[in-house]
Amino acid sequence: MSTPPSLRVRRSGPLRGTCSVPGDKSISHRALLFGALTDGVVEATGLGRGGDNLSTAAALQALGVEVRIEGTEARIAGVGFGGLRAPAAAIDCGNSGTTIRLLAGILAGRPFEAELFGDASLTHRPMRRVAMPLRQMGATIDGRTEPTRPGDIFPPLRIRGGALQGIRYDLPVASAQLKTALILAGLQAKGPTVLREPARSRDHTERMLRALGAPISIDDSGAITVTPDGWDGRLRASRIAIPGDLSSATFLIVAALTVPGSDVIIENVGLNPTRAGALDALAAMGADLTVEVTGDAMGEPVGRVRARAGRLHGARIAGDLALRAIDEIPALAMAAALAEGETVFADLAELRIKESDRIAALARELGRAGVAVEERPDGLVVAGLAGRTPAGGVVLPEHDHRIAMAGAILGLTSTEETQIPAADIATSFPSFAATLSALGASLETAT
Ligand code: S3P
Repeated sequence: MSTPPSLRVRRSGPLRGTCSVPGDKSISHRALLFGALTDGVVEATGLGRGGDNLSTAAALQALGVEVRIEGTEARIAGVGFGGLRAPAAAIDCGNSGTTIRLLAGILAGRPFEAELFGDASLTHRPMRRVAMPLRQMGATIDGRTEPTRPGDIFPPLRIRGGALQGIRYDLPVASAQLKTALILAGLQAKGPTVLREPARSRDHTERMLRALGAPISIDDSGAITVTPDGWDGRLRASRIAIPGDLSSATFLIVAALTVPGSDVIIENVGLNPTRAGALDALAAMGADLTVEVTGDAMGEPVGRVRARAGRLHGARIAGDLALRAIDEIPALAMAAALAEGETVFADLAELRIKESDRIAALARELGRAGVAVEERPDGLVVAGLAGRTPAGGVVLPEHDHRIAMAGAILGLTSTEETQIPAADIATSFPSFAATLSALGASLETAT
């Protein structure tokens, strides 16, 4: 694999203009995977072309599905669950937890064996959470073990699908990846599957699968029931329009809120409330934000966000708000660093098992930038600089795209130049530097 480019960021003048962001990463994964399970041709527009989504596309091709991507459009020739073929070689999931966990749910019911592996980061991400219930349903799943983390398993995973039985399962963590894997297995099982989450994670899967005709219902308590008996096993093909990625947009929003004089509009961005906690968190910090829903894409609200620079103050980001902003915490931590007063991030133990240990990474990077930060087991307490400028210097993203982008936006207000070597930003937001430059930021990439 080639080394990703490095990024140099300098203190910048106001960011101004209107822009858009690439297609939502979570929804793009689902459009590709669920498209493959339909009974016809799915044309998806606005596809995210980050490395993670390309890993999912390549994995489907390895399973015998024709997936053609041109620009931001994907054409997926659906084969249904039954049309997937045994892969000729192990499947590379790259950096993508969503790819490996969602595929595990699909492969759990297929009558062949497949091996799934990933890069240095994915290789250490825990897989027991999906393996355990999928085994309970009837699949055989083996993984690598690590002496320092007994009881868990890690990629490579070897999955031999079986005849699955539906289960009633209370998820130990609120996780959309786990929930989706179990729904996908449940669709291939005999008998109903009933899933309960301790709190409601992002619901892109439920929205899209229901729009494609899957037998799924959700009751008022949020419990999900999959009833496959009597269903023909095929999703109905449809066009899928993928909105812009709010996780990517949040970096631009925080940049606009913190670089003095900025005024930025982001069009066509996904505003699913189970996912839009970052906007609520920033509003709680006093951000000058205008959010307008302008349409709907397969049950997903879509709209425009305007962000104007101004004073931010500390807030408490915990509980449901933290869950709904889980991927945006790196960006929010940068807003907290530049705010007045203290911001408490809590109930975020899951952040330690993302693409990197994001709690440790954020504490390290904020500390390096001269921000007083306390690391806690499930979060951080950040004392805002309140008008003082961060230091700049070298950020160590450790294969985590969101730590790299967080370091970059802090660099826009830093005294010294910020350098981010090997910034794997293309995992989710390949046009990050170009978009920020077009808005007036001083940054450049170098290979
Ligand atoms: C995702 C779910 C979340 C999120 C990840 C994408 C998804 O992870 O952090 O970036 O697309 O389902 P968990 O399911 O582990 O919470």
